[in-house]
Amino acid sequence: MNTQTSAKVPRHIAIIMDGNGRWARERGWPRLKGHEQGARNVEPVCEACIAEGVGFLTLYAFSTENWKRPAHEVAGLMLLLERFLSEKVAMMERNGVRLATIGRTADLPGPVRKRLERAIADTAHNTKLTLTLALNYGGRDEIVDAVRSIAHEVKQGKLDPGSISGETLSTHLYTAAMPDPDLLIRTSGEMRLSNFLLWQLSYTEIHVTPRLWPDFGAEDLRAAIADFQSRDRRFGGAVENPVTTASA
Ligand code: FPP
Repeated sequence: MNTQTSAKVPRHIAIIMDGNGRWARERGWPRLKGHEQGARNVEPVCEACIAEGVGFLTLYAFSTENWKRPAHEVAGLMLLLERFLSEKVAMMERNGVRLATIGRTADLPGPVRKRLERAIADTAHNTKLTLTLALNYGGRDEIVDAVRSIAHEVKQGKLDPGSISGETLSTHLYTAAMPDPDLLIRTSGEMRLSNFLLWQLSYTEIHVTPRLWPDFGAEDLRAAIADFQSRDRRFGGAVENPVTTASA
């Protein structure tokens, strides 16, 4: 039986960073101000993860659906990303953070792609925390891409269809090199997965906080980890009921 108590630090935390727009609106500011504050927040959250011993942090930074936002907001988000990727490599180096990405990144604007590739190469030797930015990411697209690549291997005669298992699919996902998240945090109180890591979140503990992402800090991260540690993870198994009647 695959049971596990969770009184330990999650190895992998995934975060749906939501509420930037509302945070800005509460202040009478344009939405991009909320995204800017949200981007500033990534550094302290990375540092808190390292302090707590978390090895993988995956942030939902831009979904395949986010292209539907007004053009100026999309352009602003791309500029913010570019700035983050050029300014934060020093922080990553200082903290031992390795940058990675998941998603259809080939469709991102050229300047973002270039900075992304450079930041990934520059931080590849770091080992404390793998920070993965989900960019132009969609969970269904990821599964489609995995199925396509499996089908290709079958067609080439490299893979026997009868041998395809859940493990085969896992190893063809963008996340093949990392463990599934132990803890998913969603800020701003919404109770949705929003097409994020659909396969990988099957047994993940979910922590939803009303805190808007730009206000989310190290204390909130620690509270989420404490919540995770209070959970009884059974992975579909069962805990034996206590025996209440004595047998002869
Ligand atoms: C959701 O808030 C947030 C996003 C769609 C983008 C997340 C992006 C950032 C935090 C900034 C860039 C990140 C990096 C790593 C540089 P929302 O706009 O949907 O908020 P709302 O639901 O209150 O409108």
